[in-house]
Amino acid sequence: MKKVSIASWNEIEDRKPAYALLANVDLVIVRYEDKVSVMYGRCAHRGALMADGTIVGDNIICGVHGWDYLFETGVSEYNNSERLHKFSAWLEDDSVWVDEEEIAAWEKENPQPYKRDSYQGLYQDPGGTPDEPHVKFIRSLASDGLSKLGHHGPMGAMGVSRRKLPSVGMTYNSTSRSWPRDLCWMIMR
Ligand code: FES
Repeated sequence: MKKVSIASWNEIEDRKPAYALLANVDLVIVRYEDKVSVMYGRCAHRGALMADGTIVGDNIICGVHGWDYLFETGVSEYNNSERLHKFSAWLEDDSVWVDEEEIAAWEKENPQPYKRDSYQGLYQDPGGTPDEPHVKFIRSLASDGLSKLGHHGPMGAMGVSRRKLPSVGMTYNSTSRSWPRDLCWMIMR
């Protein structure tokens, strides 16, 4: 065991989630009366920081889409398969203590993808969902601007078949004074 203090008891408020980082794991601390609960600090849904959430009754509620977890156990009442891992934690000498080795071992089983030092790094959603396929792209624009795309932004053929795009083999009809009709139609669109 490697005892580490992650918060002073006086600095954390009753039923107000607090943040800590140890062994590359984001943690959320919940003080309730003279007890404390320390859980994995990222929501099981999209990884938002649970320290930014709120306490309602016996639950800690994620501030992004409202997923709930009992703060005493980390298990969701709504769906028991959704849970925040709960770590050993105790009060001693006016501080909240945890076992760093336990947390490091958990991190080994659950490698954390967050690059907290980079822009937006603490608030990444590494997984994303099929419902929001553009989030990753929007975040990359927010982080890098157009530096990785060029000032025109992403380029595409807008669904036009390569065979119909202008090429050496596509010739102007000097008799009718026109380009192939498909090409004119595509340009007008
Ligand atoms: S990220 Fe927590 S509810 Fe969606």
